[in-house]
Amino acid sequence: MNNPQINPAPADAYHIRRATLLDMRAVYRLEQAIFPLDAYPQFDLFLLFVIPGIVNIKAVAPDGSFAGFASGTRPFFHDRGWIITFGITPEHQRKGLGTRLLAVCEERIGKPDIRLTVRAGNIPAITLYDKAGYRVISRKPGYYRNGETGLIMEKRRAP
Ligand SMILES: CC(C)(COP(=O)(O)OP(=O)(O)OC[C@H]1O[C@@H](n2cnc3c(N)ncnc32)[C@H](O)[C@@H]1OP(=O)(O)O)[C@@H](O)C(=O)NCCC(=O)NCCS
Repeated sequence: MNNPQINPAPADAYHIRRATLLDMRAVYRLEQAIFPLDAYPQFDLFLLFVIPGIVNIKAVAPDGSFAGFASGTRPFFHDRGWIITFGITPEHQRKGLGTRLLAVCEERIGKPDIRLTVRAGNIPAITLYDKAGYRVISRKPGYYRNGETGLIMEKRRAP
């Protein structure tokens, strides 16, 4: 069923842009809204924007509002990148925007092997990752603070 509060704009009407330190407050608010147990503290988010080799991108709605964020490592000397954090604001979910933002993040990471960690119970994210070509390669029991298992998922991209 459609969420009546969902923003009516189609996913391709959104802009995907590089996120900068100026977006930190919006990213912090997003993290607080969508990760009740795992939101990054402000200092960790600050580091995402100042450490070299990190891709930070945001989704911007047609009205200019902040709609989502993805961050990933692009190490200079390795073939593997990691998605660090990724999410879409609740009112912009379920219209393909997460899929689109993740694809752009992968493209900018530009590595043949991309990995991420996800809560074993996070069915929306696992479903999206599975559709995007990620496969579970290992399980980490008790990985999260509340004891939940973490799944390591990996995507092998064409060179
Ligand atoms: C996971 C998340 C990023 C998905 O963003 P989104 O923009 O809604 O995703 P999409 O619209 O691209 O969805 C793609 C597919 O994923 C699956 N999916 C997405 N949300 C789902 C949900 N709530 N329940 C079940 N499946 C879901 C569906 O198969 C969907 O395709 P469909 O809409 O054609 O059925 C978003 O729910 C979110 O921000 N969640 C909180 C943060 C989070 O869990 N991040 C990942 C941490 S590892």
